[in-house]
Amino acid sequence: MADMPSKPLLSVENLHIRFKTGSGYIYAVNGVSFTIEPGTVLGIVGESGCGKSVTAFALLGLLPENAEVPEGQVIYQGRNVLALPPSQRASYRGKDIALISQDPLTGFNPVYSIGDQIREAVLAHNRCPKPEAEKKAVALMKQVGIPDPENRYKNYPHEFSGGMRQRAMIAMALANEPKLLLADEPTTALDVTIQAQVLDLLSRLQRERGMGMILITHDLGVVAQMCDQVLVMYAGQVVEQAPVEQLFEDPQHPYTIGLLNSLPRPGLKRLSPIPGQPPRLAEKISGCSFRPRCPLAQEICATMPDLLEVSAAEHYARCHFAGQLHRQALA
Ligand SMILES: Nc1ncnc2c1ncn2[C@@H]1O[C@H](COP(=O)(O)OP(=O)(O)O)[C@@H](O)[C@H]1O
Ligand SMILES: [Mg+2]
Repeated sequence: MADMPSKPLLSVENLHIRFKTGSGYIYAVNGVSFTIEPGTVLGIVGESGCGKSVTAFALLGLLPENAEVPEGQVIYQGRNVLALPPSQRASYRGKDIALISQDPLTGFNPVYSIGDQIREAVLAHNRCPKPEAEKKAVALMKQVGIPDPENRYKNYPHEFSGGMRQRAMIAMALANEPKLLLADEPTTALDVTIQAQVLDLLSRLQRERGMGMILITHDLGVVAQMCDQVLVMYAGQVVEQAPVEQLFEDPQHPYTIGLLNSLPRPGLKRLSPIPGQPPRLAEKISGCSFRPRCPLAQEICATMPDLLEVSAAEHYARCHFAGQLHRQALA
């Protein structure tokens, strides 16, 4: 029997974000909608600059000063997190949703020990005696695989390796048992072998704790391993959305196909990256934003395609030719 549809953990509805700059607006996010179900992993992929981190900041209710949200909302438990009063914002962040960012050094204050900072994260949302919070911090450090946590507690951030620092950041994110973990390129700054370990850890913790997770990455290999659902972003829009197997088996946006065809494959020496650059976002996009780079572009592509449902359930692509594309034909 099919599972009953559950209530989404969080939903983003037609989100638009632009930045005011000295030389006009930057249109960073242009009508993004998606939902994430409890206990599932949603991957967001796309080239640098396509609006992944800005979307992540919006989910946290934490946009930069010069950001404007002309349309759209982020709904968590019936409330728009972009309009939360400051008093509720603090409890939302950390307790409901926690961030793991690319660079764990920026997440820590250099002048306090790692352990004390995890302890403070525990105390931020729980009234409990300090020694108890300290014990919890040590237990968290152990859970994320930091060896000898009682002693490493006293170390400062610079005394940790990059991988250990990222584990400590994960411990801090877990301090208040968030329902949703937001991981923005969590391993980009790490060595390849360490990357795999940190991703395994995240995956295990997500499953054990039944958390929802949004994993932002530019690495489709990581998506294949870890995600249930995938959003492909381009120029601040979702251009394709599908369950992970479906996306890899039958991609229906030329951009997704380009990304997949540029992945290393056994027996194929030369990689074919997508020629050209993503658009600068200094103007509102009109028509299909991928058309200057698209091998299939036609006249009709000057009009904006909707995010069309492709034959398979829950598979959408923003292309006039969605449903008719064949990955091999574009290789
Ligand atoms: N504070 C800001 N002011 C102006 N432009 C910004 C600001 N933050 C991000 N942007 C722009 O928004 C776009 C999306 O950025 P971002 O979400 O960081 O991309 P990525 O997908 O690489 O995470 C980029 O063009 C970036 O330059
Ligand atoms: Mg980013």
